Amino acid sequence: MPRLVVTNREGATSEITVDDGLTVMEAIRDNGFDELLALCGGCCSCATCHVHVDPAFADKLPKMSEDEDDLLESSDHRTETSRLSCQIALSAELDGLHVTIAPED
Ligand code: FES
Repeated sequence: MPRLVVTNREGATSEITVDDGLTVMEAIRDNGFDELLALCGGCCSCATCHVHVDPAFADKLPKMSEDEDDLLESSDHRTETSRLSCQIALSAELDGLHVTIAPED
């Protein structure tokens, strides 16, 4: 099972173990982080699951869709490493992925 490392908005970092195939958003939400609202439930229409991903994993992430790109554009906190966490499914390849929950818009 892949490990996911999460830094919350206060800067505290913790590691969780996640079932294969769950998205980063589901893993964060199901492990008691209440900062990630994920209002649309993962259908790529709200941008409240915004995270910044450790650049070391950039080339292992699924390609960003146009919809995801548009939604991220609406955030004041977009950076080069921004992704919507509901669009990243965890797999062995992403073991140890480190994400930081983006500030609230
Ligand atoms: S949960 Fe709404 S876009 Fe990810």
